[in-house]
Amino acid sequence: MGFNGFNVRKPRHRPHGDLIAVLDVGSSKVVCFIARIDEVGRPTVIGIGHQVSQGIKGGAVIDMEVAEQSIGTAVNAAEKLAGETIREVVLNLSGGHPTSQTMAVEVAISGHEVGEGDVRRAMRAHGHAHVPPDSEIVHAIPVDFAVDGARGIHDPRGMFGTTLSVDLHLVSAATGAVRNLMTCIGRCHLACETLVVSPYAAGLACLVEDEKQLGCAVLDLGGGTTSLAVFLEGRMVFSDCIPVGGNHVTSDIARGLSTPLAHAERLKTLFGSCTASIADDRETLHVPLVGEEEPARSTHVPKSLLTGIIQPRMEETLELVRGRLEASGFSKVAGRRVVLTGGGSQLQGVRELAQQVLDKQVRMGRPAPLRGLAEATAGPAFAVAVGLVGYAVEQPSEAALVGGQEEEVGVGFFSRLGGWLRDL
Ligand SMILES: Nc1ncnc2c1ncn2[C@@H]1O[C@H](COP(=O)(O)OP(=O)(O)OP(=O)(O)O)[C@@H](O)[C@H]1O
Ligand SMILES: [Mg+2]
Repeated sequence: MGFNGFNVRKPRHRPHGDLIAVLDVGSSKVVCFIARIDEVGRPTVIGIGHQVSQGIKGGAVIDMEVAEQSIGTAVNAAEKLAGETIREVVLNLSGGHPTSQTMAVEVAISGHEVGEGDVRRAMRAHGHAHVPPDSEIVHAIPVDFAVDGARGIHDPRGMFGTTLSVDLHLVSAATGAVRNLMTCIGRCHLACETLVVSPYAAGLACLVEDEKQLGCAVLDLGGGTTSLAVFLEGRMVFSDCIPVGGNHVTSDIARGLSTPLAHAERLKTLFGSCTASIADDRETLHVPLVGEEEPARSTHVPKSLLTGIIQPRMEETLELVRGRLEASGFSKVAGRRVVLTGGGSQLQGVRELAQQVLDKQVRMGRPAPLRGLAEATAGPAFAVAVGLVGYAVEQPSEAALVGGQEEEVGVGFFSRLGGWLRDL
């Protein structure tokens, strides 16, 4: 099956033979995909590397040295398979608490034809005004253009009027977290081509075109984070992130049952569920105790105890998501649909629980099939990595910014936006 998940129009920036490298630095695992663009502009994965991540917590680097090691190992494995060396990666950002805001920008165009310069002027006038201190813009997505108040314009170039306005969706994240990640990547001798927040990539990978157009929320249930994005009319209009994920469920189990973390993880993935069943009291689970070497020193607990630990934590996490979604004002826009993905979405019963808590129709989202990707790396835990490939191919209409200084930010911002407008 061809690569059709991203509505690939034409390879705008990626010529035949071009290499794409993406890196998902997650709290549980680091994934690197290397893909090559074929003659019709589709990516084929030629190298895969993944590795349990260390030194990453809540999506952010907390130990530079060990994080560098796990990133290096994953990248090396992918390079070896691909027979290529990579220098630049499309990189995900889960840490630094990325948050959204929408900003309206207006400039006078005094009756002349709208050109690229006008849009650039609009950005320059107000581009940085609303960004919180100590944070930087990761995404700047024009969600709507209006000329003289007539909204709903996708490309304003060539139109006449007196004022041009742009609704910009800005996603900004803590500067410290962004810099730490960049430094870590730099220490692996890699540069970051673009930074993409996790739920954006997850949405690109898992939502079908109709969902993106009509309005849909995607929820990436990760190890250290739970993040969400709302898509409407083909664009991401809102995103948020909660620093709680599947790893918290695992530590709850370890604590609650006094069992080692590794065993708690095993119990969760094999027998865990977020919805109780009547059989739970009859079924017992073998639980080795923490710090005990002898297998005899273990205990048996009813499965209901395990469910009783998992369910409240998952419920709480989903309630937080509901709260963020409602506070954002985008809950209605997202319609009645929610798509779940990420490693944590594999927890039994999570769909039913999400349906209950969010009061929406919930479906499980597997990433769109990517050529060359083995079954083992095509599951929901790899949605972000697949979405990053999609992002690299599609180059969605936005001005993404990476880098430290204001000036650099500005330059990247305008040149990317200019590039996008030229290519429209
Ligand atoms: N079969 C399963 N059942 C339940 N949970 C699972 C299963 N498989 C994986 N998980 C959980 O998924 C989580 C990891 O998900 P994922 O790989 O998406 O995280 P990550 O991308 O590394 O982290 P993050 O995005 O938060 O930085 C872990 O908490 C793990 O326990
Ligand atoms: Mg992730």
